[in-house]
Amino acid sequence: MDTVTAAWLRARPALTGTAPALHRDSTPQEPLALFQNWITAAAEDGVPEPHAMTLATVDADGLPDARTLLLKDVDERGWAFAGPRSSAKGRQLAANPVAALSFWWQPVLRAVRVRGPVQEASREDSAADLATRSAAARAGVAEGDWVLWRVVPTRVEFWQGAPDRRHTRIVYTPDADGWRHSWNQEERPRRGADGEEYE
Ligand SMILES: Cc1cc2nc3c(=O)[nH]c(=O)nc-3n(C[C@H](O)[C@H](O)[C@H](O)COP(=O)(O)O)c2cc1C
Repeated sequence: MDTVTAAWLRARPALTGTAPALHRDSTPQEPLALFQNWITAAAEDGVPEPHAMTLATVDADGLPDARTLLLKDVDERGWAFAGPRSSAKGRQLAANPVAALSFWWQPVLRAVRVRGPVQEASREDSAADLATRSAAARAGVAEGDWVLWRVVPTRVEFWQGAPDRRHTRIVYTPDADGWRHSWNQEERPRRGADGEEYE
């Protein structure tokens, strides 16, 4: 068996997916529309479980934490996820109601990041989410402990990799009238101080 060294890690292929075409002229005004476009395209292109994401939170001591969750809903109110209030994430969100989400769709070379404050959904919405779970999954949850939360986005980044390292980054931030976005494509491969290309 190989030993995991820096050299071994460097030898792993990266950014081996195939990115779909991206047209600047048809960039939506709102991040929600682009997210819906990208996650459905990812599913159509065979990305398994495109609704799996990393949820990062911050505990009462300011230490970050992260784990994998499923996206339960997404609409004008935000990106929704669910879990027990009594969990570490539940305690962390009670102490610091902020979060970041990260999606990585390897086959299509796309990633999305969302960050912002977190709002707890209504009891009805949380109960409705719990009701969609299997009986076995519901059985392990104490009455009233299941919560649906929403990340209300203050920044949404869409990143698409390119084999020549001319990656594209589309960043949405809210402004008084709705959303503004910037589009940035690397003009040439970026190089580190050691002359090596880096991602
Ligand atoms: C693909 C996948 C999906 C998951 N979905 C959820 C979820 O929707 N809600 C949840 O509470 N935990 C989910 N988990 C488990 C979490 O990763 C985590 O172990 C659990 O929520 C406890 O995290 P915490 O101790 O930081 O609160 C999922 C794990 C995986 C691998």
